[in-house]
Amino acid sequence: MTSVTIRSLSEAEAPAYNDFFRDGAARHPDTLRISPADVHASPFGARDGADGSTLLATDSSDNWLGVVTVERELGREKRRHIAWILRMYVAEAASGKGVGRKLLIAAIERARQITSVSKVNLTVAEHNARAVRLYESAGFRTFAREVDAFRDPEPRTELTMSRPL
Ligand SMILES: CC(C)(COP(=O)(O)OP(=O)(O)OC[C@H]1O[C@@H](n2cnc3c(N)ncnc32)[C@H](O)[C@@H]1OP(=O)(O)O)[C@@H](O)C(=O)NCCC(=O)NCCS
Repeated sequence: MTSVTIRSLSEAEAPAYNDFFRDGAARHPDTLRISPADVHASPFGARDGADGSTLLATDSSDNWLGVVTVERELGREKRRHIAWILRMYVAEAASGKGVGRKLLIAAIERARQITSVSKVNLTVAEHNARAVRLYESAGFRTFAREVDAFRDPEPRTELTMSRPL
């Protein structure tokens, strides 16, 4: 795909982001652990700051192609060197054209800009071969496997993967 632009989401775009991601959650219940009802109950902000960003891929007409979030793990002082890649979603019409790879590379680059972060983690449904292959090819390795991690209502096994920066 030509001319994919990746940029940080602005706060004003948070409602549009939640609509876009809720649609993804409805279309991919078996690979996204967040449900449409979760998004409705707790809409996401578009924090773009010292501890992370939500990134948006658009085409030359500013159509939304995909999103990903990278965020430092907050809460535990001793885990502040870890960032998480979250909510990776490429719309069906744009998938298989390299958008996911571009978003992932941008998210890794963004994680490098977060002070003192030295590795990125993510979770992925084990049967999501496309995503697992993408993450492995970008240097992620599986370090944990949780059986029955979420149900859609089929019980799904999730891998937790990590990549040093
Ligand atoms: C997983 C997802 C983000 C991938 O995005 P994408 O834009 O389709 O992926 P890309 O086109 O960049 O392809 C990346 C890699 O995936 C793999 N891939 C692509 N299409 C594939 C297919 N049909 N089968 C298997 N692997 C495939 C390839 O390894 C490819 O690498 P390549 O560039 O060397 O060919 C996207 O399919 C998606 O949003 N799925 C639904 C939501 C989801 O599962 N999110 C991930 C949650 S962890």
